[in-house]
Amino acid sequence: MHIYLDHNATTRPDPAVVAEMLPCLGEIFGNPSSAHTFGQEARRVADLARQRVAAFLGAHTDEIVFTSGGSEACNQLLHGLARPGRHIVVSGIEHPAVLAPCAALEACGVRITRVAADASGVVHPEAVAAALTPETGLVSVMLVNNDTGVIQPVAEIAKLAHARGVPVHTDAVQAAGKIPVDVRALGVDFLTLSAHKFNGPKGVGALYIRGGRELPPLIRGGGQENRRRAGTENLPGIAGFGKACELAAVRLNGEKTEERKNGRINTGNGGSVDAGNAGTETGELRNYLETKIVELFPDAVVNGAAAERVSNTSLISFPGVNAQALALNLDLAGVAISTGSACSSSSRDPSHVLLAMGRTPQQALEAVRFSVGPGNTAAEIEHALQLLAAAVPRLRKVG
Ligand SMILES: Cc1ncc(COP(=O)(O)O)c(C=O)c1O
Repeated sequence: MHIYLDHNATTRPDPAVVAEMLPCLGEIFGNPSSAHTFGQEARRVADLARQRVAAFLGAHTDEIVFTSGGSEACNQLLHGLARPGRHIVVSGIEHPAVLAPCAALEACGVRITRVAADASGVVHPEAVAAALTPETGLVSVMLVNNDTGVIQPVAEIAKLAHARGVPVHTDAVQAAGKIPVDVRALGVDFLTLSAHKFNGPKGVGALYIRGGRELPPLIRGGGQENRRRAGTENLPGIAGFGKACELAAVRLNGEKTEERKNGRINTGNGGSVDAGNAGTETGELRNYLETKIVELFPDAVVNGAAAERVSNTSLISFPGVNAQALALNLDLAGVAISTGSACSSSSRDPSHVLLAMGRTPQQALEAVRFSVGPGNTAAEIEHALQLLAAAVPRLRKVG
């Protein structure tokens, strides 16, 4: 039995996404920049995908720049707006796609302030506002944290930053497909998406740039993407990305209705509330998993449970258990979980997200992340629970 509980690392492409991509790996091979018929056919595919991505975000098509994914979009934004002497405010719980370029820019004379989260994983708008200075040229706070699933108050942060004339970016990579993402409702100037996190293909994403905002390209060359991202378009990826957006929009609308019908679900560990989330079924599985884990191990800590979270994610600390050993044990038994974001889970460093929430390095090394997805079943969750029930006490003895 192979059970995948790591949907925040990546997701399986939807069959409809694959079907949308296949012609672009064969008969539709033209270069969208070519004037001839082959090129125009490819251009139509890219145009449709752009319309779908724009509709998904409530944006205009000319506000969408296709990129190779979330990391490139974040890098374009940060490198594009940074200047020596300029100040950038980010949260301390951002993904390395934001934190690593910030560290590189810092070495070039850009001032970076990293705002910590509270103990439940929320970055407070007042804390962000307090960090602003007359030199601040950008605020960047993610919409959903990849480790805890906590939804950040980005709309309020944008209001406060705009009142001081500061543009705002949100990394919405972990929000897309899980909660509605509307650029106007959020009031952001820039937003990042990645297709592979919501049943689209890998290696493609987008940067939303609000109309009227200028941003130089990171990759220079040809005039593609309205001169904002050079390089012949990844047409199969773009086609699949557009389809993933269309499917996610349908799923979100349907599941929102379901959720209203069923009401809210408590986790049983002190009450996390998933208001307005997509994923009733996913949410039920995640909540069942959490409830049972806390029953089995009353000292387990569900990080972020006191805050509003997306319905699929659970970052749980098991005191006295080495998280890497636990993830490895489960993997050997056929269950895939993670010790944090896939990009950093191979390192032995404690999760920077938990450190920014005030946990000790020891506590941060005891947390594993479960992220369920549309394909998971109740039987899979039961099986994972049985394995946990055996592995946790065994590892406690070792540790
Ligand atoms: C919050 C967040 N931002 C950015 C990224 C990077 O996206 P990509 O894999 O498309 O480069 C990830 C991927 O794990 C993520 O979780």
